[in-house]
Amino acid sequence: MRRTLGRAAAGFAAATLALTGLAACSAEREGTTGGESAAAEETIVGIAMPTRSLERWNNDGDHLKALLEEAGYKVSLQYADNKVEQQITQIQNMVNEGADILVVASIDGTALAPVLADAKAKDATVIAYDRLINGTPDVDYYATFDNELVGTLQGQFIEEQLGLKDGEGPFNLEPFAGSPDDNNAKFFFKGAWDVLLPYVESGQLVVPSGKSPASVDEWTSIGIQGWESAKAQSEMENRLNSFYQDKKVNVVLSPNDSLALGIAQALESAGYAPGAEYPVITGQDADLANTKNILADKQSMSVWKDTRTLGNQVAKMVDSIVAGEEPEVNDTETYDNGEKVVPSFLLEPQVVTKDDVESALVESGFFDASELGL
Ligand code: BGC
Repeated sequence: MRRTLGRAAAGFAAATLALTGLAACSAEREGTTGGESAAAEETIVGIAMPTRSLERWNNDGDHLKALLEEAGYKVSLQYADNKVEQQITQIQNMVNEGADILVVASIDGTALAPVLADAKAKDATVIAYDRLINGTPDVDYYATFDNELVGTLQGQFIEEQLGLKDGEGPFNLEPFAGSPDDNNAKFFFKGAWDVLLPYVESGQLVVPSGKSPASVDEWTSIGIQGWESAKAQSEMENRLNSFYQDKKVNVVLSPNDSLALGIAQALESAGYAPGAEYPVITGQDADLANTKNILADKQSMSVWKDTRTLGNQVAKMVDSIVAGEEPEVNDTETYDNGEKVVPSFLLEPQVVTKDDVESALVESGFFDASELGL
């Protein structure tokens, strides 16, 4: 696995980039809390991450913890094995231990209101990390990538690959959506479906399984609970066995890489091999296994969200909060959590195909070339 900051210091231009980011972040910190300031040393930051089972959350947690510790903050980083109750207990413990700032990537965005009410009663500031926290006034800021744009990029990729704008088709499509309890999943699906649904309606895209939401609001009907690869695999196997005896699937809308991995596995078991007949498959996160699949022509693209930039942004938010300043936000309209519109900072995701792996993922230090066999 890639990049602890210590390893990044070991060499190469890529690592230099990572360090430049860190230095820049520290420099901005100088302007606020003054680097390893007394204020930082008195501040406890609790970071609650959903699970270690997905590569990205390990990277997210390690990077943010290293940044904050380097600036002098006391940090408690916890992973909750995708279990909602476990995450609530972890956050409650952080609150009891006097956390001043909580950074939370929620498992179920609707389940945290009571524990965050307690955090607020004890004057903690709450930052929702990557996923919005719903149904509570006790979330102060949100930092994420533009979630709807992730889906739009997936939809547009399919549109371009298949020549849908030029009237090509019909193509057999199988759409998937993310975990029904993850607020992001709805935005991913909306972004993609707004592009693709018109082609389903015109008949250029056909969904032989019938698992085609008639509108974006019905997205949970094709959601994969917990974003599990194994569940996506068995769902894809079922669809292939039941509806594809006499036809081929041409395109799969997969909202992220963990699903794409299971889907690719199901295709392989059903005899699909990379080549002209292999379907277009989308993804998100540029996980290592998926990036290898992209290089091996088993996945067509991934929407890359450089989690280091998200960590840097959240570290800046923490600095501002500690300095008594308003953190920088760039969206005050999109993320209504049912109780309030949460001031947000949205970062821009980026499409990565086989052609971009080297220039985007390796040159930026996200992966070492050797990890990818390059
Ligand atoms: C994140 C994705 C991730 C998914 C599964 C989403 O909330 O935004 O990057 O693939 O969760 O962990």
